Amino acid sequence: MNGKYNASKLALSLIKDEMTIGIGSGSTVEVFLNLLGEKIKREGLKIYGIPSSYQAMLAGARNGLIITDLIDREPDLCVDGADQVDNKLNCIKGGGAALTREKILAFASKKVIILVEDSKLTDKLSMPVPVEVLPFAYGYVMRRISKICKPRLREGKGKVGPIITDNGNFILDCDFGVIEAPEEVEKELKSISGVVENGIFSSKLITGVIVGNNSSAKLLKL
Ligand code: 5RP
Repeated sequence: MNGKYNASKLALSLIKDEMTIGIGSGSTVEVFLNLLGEKIKREGLKIYGIPSSYQAMLAGARNGLIITDLIDREPDLCVDGADQVDNKLNCIKGGGAALTREKILAFASKKVIILVEDSKLTDKLSMPVPVEVLPFAYGYVMRRISKICKPRLREGKGKVGPIITDNGNFILDCDFGVIEAPEEVEKELKSISGVVENGIFSSKLITGVIVGNNSSAKLLKL
């Protein structure tokens, strides 16, 4: 069994009948949803899901969650993946370009659990930070952001030109090298007009990280 499966299996124990879940995006969340779907069927549970992307919505519906939104409910628990997790449990997210809705769900949820394979753990964050940008502001944001990092417009796969997020925006992958102060970088990015959101998720938002490897999983908390 792989790390995604073992992390998801442990996360399943947090799910109770009638819960509302914030559904993150990505392949790990999909593994979790497939397992949750089996549990829903087996135990006859009623689980509400607020998805962060079309991928999450379709995978949630396919697995028997009742798909709803933030108008109706607020999540008891948000379950999401991450691209990198540092030793203080700060994360970089947005590999699937769903970071904006994922961050909104994380803020709206009572608890946030991140599921990762152990290969995502690192001492300090260092991968490029995904930044969602309004297309109208692209030129301005590129010039402004280039003063603090090396940005690259994310190109689509199966589509020419830039990828377009579920919100109709562009993604810039912004290389800061090793990030010594994630919260400062997050704040600075947020202060740029035209930036919708960025992929730094401070540990303050996160209740715990479940790390899976080939044989087991464990919950990390600060
Ligand atoms: C999507 C995300 C994902 O959670 C992140 O990219 C991890 O994905 P995966 O589980 O496929 O490795 O932030 O925007």
